[in-house]
Amino acid sequence: MTEKFDVVVVGAGAAGLFCAGLAGQRGLKVLLLDHSEKVAEKIRISGGGRCNFTNRDTTPANFVGENPHFCRSALSRYTPQDFIALLQRYNIAFHEKHKGQLFCDRSAEDVINMLLAECDAGGVTRWQPCHVSGIKHAASLYGTSAGSYQIESDRGLIETPQLVIATGGLSIPKIGATDFGYRIAKQFGLRLVEPRAGLVPLTFDGEAWAPYAQLSGLALPVLIETGSPDASPKQRKKAVVFAEDLLFTHRGLSGPAVLQISSFWRDGQPVRINLAPGVDLSTLLMRAKASSRKLIANELAALVPSRLADAWASSDPAWQKPVSEATDKALNTLADRLADWQLTPNGTEGYKKAEVTLGGVDARDLSSQTMESKQPGLYFIGEVVDVTGWLGGYNFQWAWASGHACAEAL
Ligand code: FDA
Repeated sequence: MTEKFDVVVVGAGAAGLFCAGLAGQRGLKVLLLDHSEKVAEKIRISGGGRCNFTNRDTTPANFVGENPHFCRSALSRYTPQDFIALLQRYNIAFHEKHKGQLFCDRSAEDVINMLLAECDAGGVTRWQPCHVSGIKHAASLYGTSAGSYQIESDRGLIETPQLVIATGGLSIPKIGATDFGYRIAKQFGLRLVEPRAGLVPLTFDGEAWAPYAQLSGLALPVLIETGSPDASPKQRKKAVVFAEDLLFTHRGLSGPAVLQISSFWRDGQPVRINLAPGVDLSTLLMRAKASSRKLIANELAALVPSRLADAWASSDPAWQKPVSEATDKALNTLADRLADWQLTPNGTEGYKKAEVTLGGVDARDLSSQTMESKQPGLYFIGEVVDVTGWLGGYNFQWAWASGHACAEAL
């Protein structure tokens, strides 16, 4: 027995739930299915359990992808203000934390419950868990002239003229991430941009990292950028620089600064970190040299966190002395190293720790107006597409905006 729907959405995460609800409310008979037992696990764990559901200041410049203009249309037609208005209709309290990032006051569950209520309002049928074993496109079993998608699942055969893939990326496999979306794209001849982990801690070679491992747990505000040390001044000018907190870990670097830059970092490239932004280290150390008998480490501790000052000063004999006895060259080198610390990661913590997956279904094979692919009736929304937001609520805003663009077109 085959069940027939106007639309089938695969993946009941942020984008799939939102799109299914809107499509149902437009009068379509919608099936939303997901292989996980629990709905929207990623929303549940997001934002430390409070879901940073959007960013008030979202612009296309906050997204990474091979086709930077692709996200423009969807983002302009469904804005952060639209999602805020939806939350307000459900009386969900929220607050702004940092740089436009909006979080629930209570819990991410509020967003999940709202999306489920929107699906209920649209009469959406939800099958969960439901495993899909194959999809083919063929003449309709019901004899209509247009082709249809026939989906084999452990709950039986499903037929639909419109199939929406919202299965996300590869991040956090233990809560249900799979490469399903990429496999379907390939099956129907669509191009893929090589996926890689994004918004992820960076790791360093054990030996090279040993002097810094003692700093594990230290957090401080920094400026961070990435790019080749041989970059031209013009390229350096165009480099993205983030002003955020950095966190030292046993294996490498984390914290918002590093998660942000990880989405721009490429294998073999260094990252460049200013560990004392806004502080003119060189001038202040020279001033100290003229008036103080303290050790360099102690003078430095007034300018940067003391653990960092100790670790830095102990890394070179020229810095292990009273500041009055140090040479100008030694003090200037110390200031330069702290203001432009260059180090080359050997990798990332990978998909088990990454908040997002960069790359995905190539935007050149999708309509930016509707999210429909070159394969008629097949749509891709959310993180499975090669559109990745910065840290700070942008990825959910893309899930809502792409889900909305698709639902309007179904
Ligand atoms: P999402 O991953 O939400 O959903 C995909 C769904 O497809 C899942 O339910 C999955 O089970 C299902 N699926 C996968 N394979 C399937 C298959 N073979 N068959 C059937 N179903 C399948 N972003 C942000 O803006 N603010 C934030 O605060 C955070 N915080 C955050 C924390 C952590 C720890 C992570 C890992 C990620 C974030 N993010 C975030 C990123 C954000 O969660 C992510 O970008 C969106 O959830 C993407 O929404 P999608 O609907 O595209 O995928």
